[in-house]
Amino acid sequence: MKLPAVFPLLTAVLLSLPSYGADGPRLTLGAKFTGNQSCATTGCHGGGTIHNESIIFERKDPHAVSYGILGKGTSLRMAEALGIKGDPAKSEQCNVCHAPMQGLDANLFVKDLKPDRGVSCESCHGAAENWLRFHTRPDVDFKQIVAAGMRDLNDIYGRANSCVGCHLNLDESLRKAGHPELFFELDGQCAAQPPHYRDARPSLGPRSWLTGQAAALREMSWKLSNKGDENFLPRWKAMVWLLQKTELGKQELPVSEDFPTMQKAADGLARKAAQKLWTKEEVGAQLKGLAALHAEFEAGKADRAQMQRKAEVLVPALDRLWRDLVKGGAPNAAEGETSIRALHVLALDHEDFDPSRFSGALSQFSGNLAQASNGAPSEAKKK
Ligand code: HEC
Ligand code: HEC
Ligand code: HEC
Repeated sequence: MKLPAVFPLLTAVLLSLPSYGADGPRLTLGAKFTGNQSCATTGCHGGGTIHNESIIFERKDPHAVSYGILGKGTSLRMAEALGIKGDPAKSEQCNVCHAPMQGLDANLFVKDLKPDRGVSCESCHGAAENWLRFHTRPDVDFKQIVAAGMRDLNDIYGRANSCVGCHLNLDESLRKAGHPELFFELDGQCAAQPPHYRDARPSLGPRSWLTGQAAALREMSWKLSNKGDENFLPRWKAMVWLLQKTELGKQELPVSEDFPTMQKAADGLARKAAQKLWTKEEVGAQLKGLAALHAEFEAGKADRAQMQRKAEVLVPALDRLWRDLVKGGAPNAAEGETSIRALHVLALDHEDFDPSRFSGALSQFSGNLAQASNGAPSEAKKK
């Protein structure tokens, strides 16, 4: 079996092997994939309104069509630049993420199964061979199903691990050939996936955000310690900077530029972050601390390109924490969002990032925040 050594997690994710997330070897080593069709029957997840996960997925989820994109415009140009002969969908350089089942050996599928084309149910939920038949039985609990190899995606740490494998580490050669740079932020990306499940647990947003960013730091550290992809260094530094502005990050992350050390510490941080419940006060205080960083962006204090990378990770943090803070209604929720959108536009300007404009916009955002936390609603101010 030939599996590309792209990054530590992806192959582990696909094969349900123990990854960082597993507490020990699973029972399912070697479990086979049963395919989307085995989930999609009407009596199961392709039903009317109750269990319609497959319908939502097929109709709306970009993962369902992640394969199709490989045969078109940008992909073909990229393939040419990379010297990929023939169909990019057949190339491991692309299908590891876009068509993960296509690159696997036939013996990893149940008999006669035609592998799913795009990212499929089992890419996230795990190979179903050993739990498919019994996971709906009323006398079987979730623990038993997980023991039989279903990924526990309720565990936020496990969830982050299942996404980050495809959503961050891209080889520099692909980026140079025109692939969009990849960014990972668990909370926002979960929200952006057309929902086929509901998860309304308390402080899920901040927990997911911090867990996901720690997992991203771990993966970048891994990448830098292996192939030393220098292009990742400013992004790595920015993520370390951001995470060290959080309480847990201060405790867990060393001040170190040694990548293996940081990889281990970031994994520890991700595990802790997944468990931490945030109070509203903590979310407010974290936001306040982050908004106060506007002073660091004043022009001339540091390298502009490095500042842009910092802004790039700071804005999603503001976005996710703000959404959590104003969840359930706050008079100036919309104003805060507008400020964040403006910051987002400034942060994404790789070519001409303007630290002092960013600093100004960030300090304006601090203003929204002050209002939100003293409960001095903007309506009252207008009167
Ligand atoms: C096997 C690889 C793989 C895994 C695992 C995976 N994704 Fe994706 N995801 C992709 C690919 C490839 C695309 C691009 C699809 C396209 O545009 O054709 C994508 C696109 C997306 C998009 C739309 C584009 C964007 O970034 O806004 C979202 C949202 C998303 N994924 C969220 C998630 C989340 C959340 C998880 C984990 C629960 C996850 N993905 C797990 C491969 C994966
Ligand atoms: C590490 C996983 C990974 C690999 C390897 C990868 N991609 Fe992607 N690709 C993604 C993800 C994730 C997205 C979605 C990014 C987003 O929207 O934020 C994406 C987006 C794209 C897009 C843009 C889609 C859009 O809607 O704008 C194209 C085109 C693409 N990939 C083609 C390719 C080709 C061709 C290859 C092989 C040469 C390849 N990808 C290899 C993960 C990957
Ligand atoms: C990109 C990753 C991803 C893909 C692909 C995916 N899921 Fe999910 N799914 C999740 C996450 C994350 C959750 C939330 C955690 C949980 O409930 O286990 C979830 C939850 C669920 C749930 C639990 C719903 C509930 O409310 O408790 C079902 C059922 C489900 N998925 C079925 C499917 C089916 C069927 C497919 C394929 C058609 C699929 N999923 C594809 C990530 C994914």
